Formats: sequence, structure tokens, C-alpha cells
Amino acid sequence: MLETAFTRLVGCNVPIQLAGMGSILSPELAAAVSNAGALGQITFAGIEVDDARRRLDRLSQLTSKPFGVNVLIPYLDMGILEMAAPRARVIDFFWGDPDPELVSFVHDAGALASWQVGSTAEAMAAEQAGCDFIIAQGFEAGGHIRGTLGLLPLLSSVLDEVSVPVLAAGGIGNGRSIAGVLAAGAAGVRMGTRFIAAEESNAHPDYVKAVIAARAEDSVRTNRFHVECPLCPSTHGVLRQAIEAAEAFEGEYVAEIELGGERTRIARFRGVPPFKGFHGHIEAMACYAGQSVGDVKKVQPAAEIVAEMVDEADKLLNRA
Ligand SMILES: Cc1cc2nc3c(=O)[nH]c(=O)nc-3n(C[C@H](O)[C@H](O)[C@H](O)COP(=O)(O)O)c2cc1C
Repeated sequence: MLETAFTRLVGCNVPIQLAGMGSILSPELAAAVSNAGALGQITFAGIEVDDARRRLDRLSQLTSKPFGVNVLIPYLDMGILEMAAPRARVIDFFWGDPDPELVSFVHDAGALASWQVGSTAEAMAAEQAGCDFIIAQGFEAGGHIRGTLGLLPLLSSVLDEVSVPVLAAGGIGNGRSIAGVLAAGAAGVRMGTRFIAAEESNAHPDYVKAVIAARAEDSVRTNRFHVECPLCPSTHGVLRQAIEAAEAFEGEYVAEIELGGERTRIARFRGVPPFKGFHGHIEAMACYAGQSVGDVKKVQPAAEIVAEMVDEADKLLNRA
């Protein structure tokens, strides 16, 4: 069903890659997405190798299907890469210049390498670096936004310039959008926001509620959430309500969490999206969301989300 160059390359059934989403992802969500036939992913950024290994062990217990490990270049930890690359089908990079040495390292360990890019020049550099597939991220995306173009102008240009499979990311939250970009020549899609309210997600329940209540218009581009963020300055796709709540908040810290026996406080406008375990003013944290947020209508198992979207895309493409 919906076989593409991406599904053949990676060995999955459905042309959907779960986006890297930091601590919003859980091994449970990654496994559920992989078990549903798509490519589940988990992000390792700013954590210890042992912690990453434990999460990978859990993920491997929950699925025997291919999955990816998402790595942010400013948090690159070669120890984690050494541990993860032999176990993952894909090592997925974001937020740094495509690096041929890193790609060779991944290939030598037996995994595929993908790179999420924000411009055609970056896509060409990723292909030259040896990446097996590329993700073109449009300005509609949730979280950190790499480039300045909307998805369709970027995708069209990238597809003209590279020959490896290209996935489309940013604002895609339903089968109609999937059908649209597949018809345009994409080999699949990468989706983040649509999975925030998945039953298996690690998003804080108040964040999930805000995402469900939001319309597409509530996803805005901003650079306000920049405090202690090694990826900043940059633009993010965030809920407008989160900016308003953080602006209205009087005080230095909006929330806190206890991790490994240590209490961490989150400063106002710090770029950390709210995951389970946080206490405080969740609504004033970095509630990242892409324009696909209007497609998130309820809490659902990830498998149901995947099946619904694929069914809709399949019908539309057959009709076309
Ligand atoms: C809550 C959230 C956290 C994100 N964190 C990461 C991350 O850790 N690594 C990464 O590569 N991309 C991250 N992104 C961006 C995604 O890779 C992707 O470009 C984006 O989700 C696509 O747009 P969509 O959210 O409309 O599907 C994040 C996106 C969201 C919504």
C-alpha cells in the first residue's frame, strides 16, 4: 500500500517518517509508528549514552520493524552515534551542514543516513555528502524551522535538483496533504505535530489539550523561545497561545521537573516543549506546533492515525 522509493529503501510499508521531536517522543510512540508500517523515530539530544541505550533497548523490545534515530548536530555525541548506528535502520540528522564523514560513519555501521534540510542548497549538499534520502522542511513546520520557504516551493525546487528520495515535511497532517506531495513527486512525508496527541506520545496532557483545541491559524512563526537553546537564534512553529501566556507570565520560571533526582526549572521563553512530568504553567512553555495542528482532533493510538491518513491518501491517489 502506497509503495514508494522511500518504503523500498527503508523496508517499511507506509511512506511516513515520524519526525524527531525531542522528549515528546517515547520508545512506545516510535515502536507504535513502526509497527503500523511507517518509520518510527526517537531523538537522542542532550542525554547520556546509557540513557540512550536504555531507550533503544526498550524500543527494540517493542518492535522488530525498522526505526530511525534522530540526532541534532549541535548536540552531536559520537558515543551515542557509535552505540545507536549499528542498531537503527536510519540515522536522521538535523540542524547542521551535511557532513560526508558523519554519513560515512553511519554507512559503515550499517544504517542509512537522512538529513532534514531547509533549502535547495542544503539538499544538494546532503546528496553530495552521501545521504540516502532527504527531508525538505517547509516553513509551515512545528518546532525549529531551518529555512524560509513554504513547503511546495521548497519541495518543487529540491525535487528538481536531487535524485535521492525526498520526503516532504511541514504542515502535513492528513491524507489529502500526503496524496498531494506524493503526486508532486515526494517519496513520502515526515510528520511531527500530528503525533503529539498520539496515545503513546510523551507530550504533557495540557499541551495535548492545547494542540487539540488549536486551529491551523494558531500555529505561528516566532523567535521568542530562545533561552538556553543551542539551536538558536532560529524561527519556530509554536502555538500563539503559548507566546501570549509566556508574555503574560510574571516571574522567572514557568515550570519545573524532577529528572534523576534533580529538580530542573524552566525559565520563561526557554525552548523546551512540555513533556510528561513537568509541573507549573505548561501553557506558557514552548508548545511547538506546525500548521498541521488543525488536523489534530483527539487522542488516538498512533496506529489509528497512520491507518486513517494512509487510507485517505490511497483513495485520493486512486481517484486521481
Ligand atoms: C514538538 C516538536 C519537537 C520537534 N523537535 C525536533 C527534534 O528534536 N529533532 C528534529 O529533527 N526535528 C524536530 N522537530 C521538527 C520536525 O522534524 C519536523 O520538521 C516538523 O514536525 C514537521 O512539521 P509538522 O510538525 O507540521 O509535521 C520538532 C517538531 C515538533 C512539533
